Amino acid sequence: MNNYNFLQYEFQDRVGILSIHRPEKLNALNEQVLKELTLFFTDLKNKVEKNPLELRGLILTGSGEKAFIAGADIALMQKMNAQQALEFARLGQDLSSIIENFPTPIVAAVNGYALGGGCEMALACDFAVATKQALFGLPEVKLGLIPGFGGTQRLARLVGRHKARELIYTGRNIEAQEALQLGIILKIYENKQEMLEHIEQTFFAEVKKNSPLAIKLAKKALNTGVDLNMAQGLSKEREEFSDLFNSQDMQIGTTAFIQKTKPEFLGR
Ligand code: COA
Repeated sequence: MNNYNFLQYEFQDRVGILSIHRPEKLNALNEQVLKELTLFFTDLKNKVEKNPLELRGLILTGSGEKAFIAGADIALMQKMNAQQALEFARLGQDLSSIIENFPTPIVAAVNGYALGGGCEMALACDFAVATKQALFGLPEVKLGLIPGFGGTQRLARLVGRHKARELIYTGRNIEAQEALQLGIILKIYENKQEMLEHIEQTFFAEVKKNSPLAIKLAKKALNTGVDLNMAQGLSKEREEFSDLFNSQDMQIGTTAFIQKTKPEFLGR
């Protein structure tokens, strides 16, 4: 791993835990944090493309107990002009797309404030879970801003336009229980430790048994299909389905079923 000032990375048994670490500013996203995250994910993506078995998934969290990410850096934005703001939004949006389209699953483990850009990063992950003290929100209008890292688009697609409008126009924060009801998170935990252990021992334990290539292509079909109409989405699904018939993983998986053995997938 490169030398990062604002990221901490642990890796164990093929699952990585990436923590954003800027505790004195509640892990707020300034340009340098965004650039480090972009470099980190780009670098890791290249490694996974070369060796799909090495990393089966990633957990994105905030260091400490108080914040996942308390938003884009307000002090930085206060001094920006429109051109700089455009570049800043592009940086954040590009990062959210890298996370969304990463070849292995990424779970947001929200351990506290997930506001503004923090909520937007959680929305870009495959799904999110949270501790009971987590707080979500897109409060940008309170600052005379709007979400700029994908929030208007991803929240509306996830919870529907009406609920997204209500949340974005009021800028109100919601607690974990409401985020659960809305489908923004899948589960609530007592504390961070329990959350991290549970994701590794349940979700990722199952993911590791399955074909990395099939998961990658299922993710691709899901992600591309969301923005298409049904006929186009089904066509994308057919393409990915058919592509798998040229893979070793498909042979390994179906043969293991017939021979009543455990498949040892290769990710290709
Ligand atoms: N950008 C820049 N700095 C931020 C920040 C952000 N989004 N969120 C928190 N910080 C900084 C604070 O300015 C403070 O810095 P300081 O000690 O140098 O003054 C430090 O992090 C700790 O935050 P503080 O406000 O003292 O903690 P708190 O527990 O009283 O409140 C929050 C926590 C999250 C409620 C509050 O920090 C907040 O409202 N943050 C902004 C949230 C937001 O609007 N995000 C969307 C941005 S588009």
